[in-house]
Amino acid sequence: MNPEPERRKRATPRWTREQASKIERTSETVAPIIYPPTEDAAPDINGWDTWFLRTRDGSIASIDGWRVIFSLTAPADLLPGKRHDVAEIRYFYSRDGKNWHDGGPIFEDEALGSRQWAGSALLDEDGQIYVYYTASGRADEEELTYEQRLAVGSGGMIEADDSGLTIEGPFEHEILLEPDGERYEREEQYRGMIYTFRDPWFYEDPATDETCLLFEANSPVLEGEGVCEDEVQEAFNGSVGIARSPTGDPTDWHFEDPLLEGVCVNQELERPHVVVHDSQYYLFISSHDHTFAPGIDGPDGLYGFVADSLMGEYRPLNESGLVLTNPENAPYQAYSWVAFPHREELLVSGFFNYYDLGGLALDDVAGLPPEEQHAKFGGMLAPTVRLALDGDRTRITGTLSHGCIPLESEALPELPEERLAHREETHRGYDTC
Ligand code: FRU
Repeated sequence: MNPEPERRKRATPRWTREQASKIERTSETVAPIIYPPTEDAAPDINGWDTWFLRTRDGSIASIDGWRVIFSLTAPADLLPGKRHDVAEIRYFYSRDGKNWHDGGPIFEDEALGSRQWAGSALLDEDGQIYVYYTASGRADEEELTYEQRLAVGSGGMIEADDSGLTIEGPFEHEILLEPDGERYEREEQYRGMIYTFRDPWFYEDPATDETCLLFEANSPVLEGEGVCEDEVQEAFNGSVGIARSPTGDPTDWHFEDPLLEGVCVNQELERPHVVVHDSQYYLFISSHDHTFAPGIDGPDGLYGFVADSLMGEYRPLNESGLVLTNPENAPYQAYSWVAFPHREELLVSGFFNYYDLGGLALDDVAGLPPEEQHAKFGGMLAPTVRLALDGDRTRITGTLSHGCIPLESEALPELPEERLAHREETHRGYDTC
């Protein structure tokens, strides 16, 4: 047997090929199949990546009984595959956490980028709103570019009464961070398939009160550096980036070394976010089957890591990192998950992606007749998934209705004994929110 080639050690903890080679669908990690809801609350728009308006301590904000979410959206009559090119952030509000009202686009025309991608949102103690987003491309560009910069719109006024809630601008927009080319790859350094520097996620560490911004990035890997087994793997260089604000100012950020790298393993560690549970730090990302390096077989899923402190070092949950995935016969039914705490459990919200594909891969969808592409795309929030956490292990215990985002003060339906003990294979349908 050939000895393992000597490879350069990197400072940042890595999700290793050995760990990722243990990825497999199990009854703990496969979510139940999703059926379309009886009613589409916003039939004229498709929505996908979604985040909540939260306070500094990470809780979902409640304003006169209303909670607010933000989603990337596009007109429903546009081919779903084209939605990223025109993405616009809209806000939705709800009092019961299941019926969402469309408040319209959060920004007027002044947002940065030719379109806006995912982010996070903070309602600060002084009432200021910070909507973090990815400025993709440049406003007024003639041809779409894939430059990505981390941006914020700050300002805004929320007004709420029994009839609803509005958020009015103006917002002041600024670029917060651009990749430095050393810790975080610039677009021109990029050798892989899809460049990433995006998805800013505001987070305050409850143990230290440190104010942080997590984001999805790529680590520069020099050709011939010998980090991976071969050059092909080197193009799979996803990372979870982090920046800190020394004063707590939510617009003043300084890069730190990445929290985690997926070099040689996976190229997109998307929408990173952290949840603390039992004094442990759980770091979650979403990733796709096609962004795993050759030789590693992982499905579209929510992947997670755990550490004793925010800065790590992180170890994969369930040994491989896989926390939640779609059933084998509906492998693209949901994506872009966000985990949030609810009392003793974690809840996971994602969006209802492509379903009923009958064995087609995501890349094949563009070849279907347009009406089928529309018919097979959910474009709304998926049923919320309930997760039990126990140290380094997680287990799916149930599902709630489509788009259910409960506050911690709202009790959830009790989980049946038999499901708690051992998940029922036949668990179908969703408990109501
Ligand atoms: C995940 C994602 C995000 C990005 C958005 C663009 O679904 O790739 O990383 O912000 O989609 O639409």
